[in-house]
Amino acid sequence: QSTTEIDLTKIQPGQGVITSFRKQPLFVRNLTPKEIAEADAVPVGSLRDPETLEQRTKDGKKNWLITLGVCTHLGCIPLGINEGDNRGKFGGYFCPCHGSQYDTAARIRQGPAPKNLAVPDYKFTSPTTVLVG
Ligand code: FES
Repeated sequence: QSTTEIDLTKIQPGQGVITSFRKQPLFVRNLTPKEIAEADAVPVGSLRDPETLEQRTKDGKKNWLITLGVCTHLGCIPLGINEGDNRGKFGGYFCPCHGSQYDTAARIRQGPAPKNLAVPDYKFTSPTTVLVG
């Protein structure tokens, strides 16, 4: 199927879930206020792939970070979607294949990956439901 519907009601702040979208892993993360503040504190011009958290999320829904779970280096699934995972040096995602480090906006901060984790097309169809694709 070409779209994926996600129920956000069970994802607490600080938690995430992995699901799939068009046969690729999809990460849905509910960022804490601290994680949002960390992302916002980074000067965007210092980034390899310059984007703000705001640009990567929907208006008024900055805590919902929805990305593909596919490292932009060679396509491994990064760690970090589950609370107990190694989230790396920047608190977002860590790719164990060659050490790419992503921040709390899933932006590449260190390591070989060239781009941020990709944000798919999606929309909120209710305050607690997202339709991806
Ligand atoms: Fe992720 Fe190489 S595939 S760092």
